[in-house]
Amino acid sequence: MGANVGIICVLFLLATQTVGVPAFAPWKKLHVPWKKHSKGKIIQKNQALPINSIFKLPAPVTNSWPPGGNFASGTIDLGGLQVCEASTFNKVWGTYGGGPDDQGFSIFEPSGVPKGFSMLGSYSQPNNKPLSGYVLVAKDVSTNTSNPSLKQPLDYTLVWNSASLEIDQDGPIYVWLPIAPNGYKAVGHVVTTTPTKPSLEKIMCVRLDLTDQCETNSFIWDSDNFNFLDVRPSNRGIQAPGVRVGTFVAQNASLNSPSIACLRNTNAIPKYMPNLPQIKAILQVYSPVMSLLLEQISFNL
Ligand SMILES: *[C@@H]1O[C@H](CO)[C@@H](O)[C@H](O)[C@H]1NC(C)=O
Ligand SMILES: *[C@@H]1O[C@H](CO)[C@@H](O)[C@H](O)[C@H]1NC(C)=O
Repeated sequence: MGANVGIICVLFLLATQTVGVPAFAPWKKLHVPWKKHSKGKIIQKNQALPINSIFKLPAPVTNSWPPGGNFASGTIDLGGLQVCEASTFNKVWGTYGGGPDDQGFSIFEPSGVPKGFSMLGSYSQPNNKPLSGYVLVAKDVSTNTSNPSLKQPLDYTLVWNSASLEIDQDGPIYVWLPIAPNGYKAVGHVVTTTPTKPSLEKIMCVRLDLTDQCETNSFIWDSDNFNFLDVRPSNRGIQAPGVRVGTFVAQNASLNSPSIACLRNTNAIPKYMPNLPQIKAILQVYSPVMSLLLEQISFNL
């Protein structure tokens, strides 16, 4: 039985990994010298880029699991900070050259954020893949009102803008890093299409004890030693409390560590874990089917 549980856990991890975030190699390994986008090249902005379609699994997946507990309830409480995944987006901006396959990249904001939840950062990915990501949005559910889990930024720093770049783009983009109050940290960027600073209500910063160190992961795009990168928690694994937010970081290539953080789970999670009937249902849906030719196998029981 012990071995069975172990196998089920491994399968569960594999199963969730196949549907979760694709495992990227560190971006540096992927960073081949991308073709420089040739100026004056005519690009139809509405051409059929992969990102214009939404990623779908080859077969539809049920979202009605056997009942019990808080598994698959759509939100999780990380300890006074409730988060849920936003996977529908409004596109803010795109550029159509450079990056993987020389197809450029796009930046999105979560749309349809549930009432009471706030944006923690924008989403970005290269245009050469179907739209497939999510960002977490968060709600302060802490009980101590003098120690909120979320606070508005004090101000913003403009970290990059594309106004002077000769690239195929949807007008200029301005990328802002929130300046967090003391004891808080930004976990994502805000972008605008005008030089006017975004409203301080646009995004929330997270209390330090609910953040964890993150690292750059996959390459999205670069220009003159300025990088757009996906980030993930530095400490990963079954016991690791780091939580991926789904946001990107935009920063000078000379910086080694990201200017933003990931989230950190400070709560016990058993009530969010699947029970046995739910695990069985997950395996039914997600596990690969292996066919063996029995006559070629000698059993040794
Ligand atoms: C509430 O937070 C404040 C500020 O961190 C702290 O001094 C105080 O002890 C907390 N109160 C409770 C009841 O935890
Ligand atoms: C990146 O940093 C270097 C060294 O600090 C600086 O010279 C360069 O202008 C920066 N590039 C951008 C795009 O900010």
